[in-house]
Amino acid sequence: MTQHDDKRRRLLGHLGRQLAYTAPMLALVTGGVTLHATVGDNESSPNLTASSALSLLLANAHAEGGAEGEAEGEAEGEAEGEAEGEAEGEAEGEAEAGTTAAVQRPEGYEPAYSESGNNPAELLARGEALYYDTSLSTNGMSCATCHGSDGQDMGYSATFEEAFPHRVAMAENPFGMAQVHADEMVQVCMVAPMQAAPLDWRGDALPSLTAYMVEVQRRFSGQSHGL
Ligand code: HEC
Repeated sequence: MTQHDDKRRRLLGHLGRQLAYTAPMLALVTGGVTLHATVGDNESSPNLTASSALSLLLANAHAEGGAEGEAEGEAEGEAEGEAEGEAEGEAEGEAEAGTTAAVQRPEGYEPAYSESGNNPAELLARGEALYYDTSLSTNGMSCATCHGSDGQDMGYSATFEEAFPHRVAMAENPFGMAQVHADEMVQVCMVAPMQAAPLDWRGDALPSLTAYMVEVQRRFSGQSHGL
């Protein structure tokens, strides 16, 4: 092992402990993001930046997401019977598809929120509670950890000002989605930074949290909002 590999391993070990990873990934390539590239070849400044930490996070989520996706696919297939099982099975078949399938609107899905606002107050209230709920993640984070409390609205890119669906860098790479709806973006953040399983597409949590994020988007982009 070269000195460089050694250093990289120490860095990854450190990051792993910080973010409660089980296994640091050393050679994972995901949608063009390689750990080699993100941790960097710059021997003089081995400190991880926030963006390289996020890349690692995404790389790790990608690897684990695939496995989780499969496990869930199996569990759901069993619970929901054959018709569903077949669709899930197809998704599992493609090596790369596991994670993308988990964050993409399933066929026949009808969103239970409005992407242009005016959602019922109880949906927003439930969504706000979820936004602060660390039990949604497996790593102690809540949405508020990255996106701020009490209207701070941090951690977003300029794309968040555009009406959904739109392109989001984190959904494009590594999930391969050219555009996302608001609920799909919530799922991307569930699977990647939150290191969790996606929310149930038919449950109450997803439309609630998404309705809340739609209002956050309106606030972020200077429109009238209901928060
Ligand atoms: C570890 C940090 C982190 C956590 C935790 C996190 N996010 Fe994000 N989120 C990001 C980053 C980084 C971006 C910007 C991604 C981009 O533009 O490529 C983002 C962007 C978004 C966007 C806007 C995307 C757009 O431009 O349209 C939404 C909506 C969002 N997150 C929702 C959530 C929700 C809901 C949760 C909790 C379930 C959450 N995020 C948790 C890091 C995080």
